[in-house]
Amino acid sequence: MIENGRESKALKDKVVSLLKSKGNDLTELYEQADHIRKVHMGDEVYIRGIIEFSNICNNDCLYCGIRASNHLVNRYTMTLDEILAVAREMPLRQQTTVVLQSGETPGINDREIGNIIKMIKAETSLAVTVSVGNRPREIYRYWQECGMDRYFLRFETSDPVLFARLHPDCTLYERLDCLYALKELGVQTGSGFMIGLPGETLGTLADNILLCRDLDLDMIGIGPFIPHPDTPLADEKNAYAGEEEMFFKALAVLRLFNPDAHIPATTAFDAVFPGEGRNLALKRGANVFMPNNTPVEYRKDYLLYPGKPCIDESAQECSSCVLSRIESIGRKIGLGPGHSVKMHRGKK
Ligand code: SAM
Ligand code: FES
Repeated sequence: MIENGRESKALKDKVVSLLKSKGNDLTELYEQADHIRKVHMGDEVYIRGIIEFSNICNNDCLYCGIRASNHLVNRYTMTLDEILAVAREMPLRQQTTVVLQSGETPGINDREIGNIIKMIKAETSLAVTVSVGNRPREIYRYWQECGMDRYFLRFETSDPVLFARLHPDCTLYERLDCLYALKELGVQTGSGFMIGLPGETLGTLADNILLCRDLDLDMIGIGPFIPHPDTPLADEKNAYAGEEEMFFKALAVLRLFNPDAHIPATTAFDAVFPGEGRNLALKRGANVFMPNNTPVEYRKDYLLYPGKPCIDESAQECSSCVLSRIESIGRKIGLGPGHSVKMHRGKK
């Protein structure tokens, strides 16, 4: 990330020092993040159901379990009818957004993705988020015309050298150009990063948080890097191995610097802290939950990292579990679509 002068250096130092919080300071950091979440985003937790509709990918991101070179993966693409059948049931489970996610080159083309968006919009009340990787601006525009409300594309790391080492197929600047195109089109734009990629420092983590702020994102998804055994990073460790509290610190500091962005309690938090990671994330800055709606027969084939939770549960079981988790921490289910708070305030 580009530094511009003394002010940004001071800001980065401030973020690094918050990330080093311990004892009472750490308790205060979490309380402050929760307070800011409450003031800016309210007590509602929005439920966005994710459908991992294809694991086919031409890319070879070094960390990713479904990368093209992992020949141990059984590849699948859901049919249009299968996707629609799942989407139709989502509003019955208090899910107001569908997130359509896949590898970078799913087994269906961009026009077919457009048709799926159109059909979901015609048949359901769902807001539609798409997350299928880098595309030219014209394709994002076409999907927007089909009814796409939001797009989610992580920049993964703000360090261009680290990004290049991990992504043989694109540069950080190409990824950022996609995000600028989406923002310019007026699509609600989400991005984020992995916490603890091998080679990252606290300075990188601070830059990641500040890049989210600079991009003025509508949604921000972050989660710990978890080494996958069938990838080139199998023997690498998370940069914060042994100090996993850093994952929550990153989330809390992210909230302080992005008060009015939607921030999900991502699944990877549960992989590191089974049964409680996502609850803790909701208490430390997050305001969105994303239950898995992928049909059970496909879930085991969308293992981005080991230990991914809920791979044997049905969408109905996941949904009931999510609702009780939200109620157990005294929060409410968000009833509307949970669109961008920034857009509603006419900032864009
Ligand atoms: N192809 C789309 C894209 O690249 O945006 C969406 C699918 S991609 C698999 C979704 C996210 O999974 C990535 O943005 C990355 O941050 C995360 N991911 C992949 N491998 C991971 C790992 N080993 N540990 C943690 N997160 C991982
Ligand atoms: Fe393609 Fe991960 S490398 S989705």
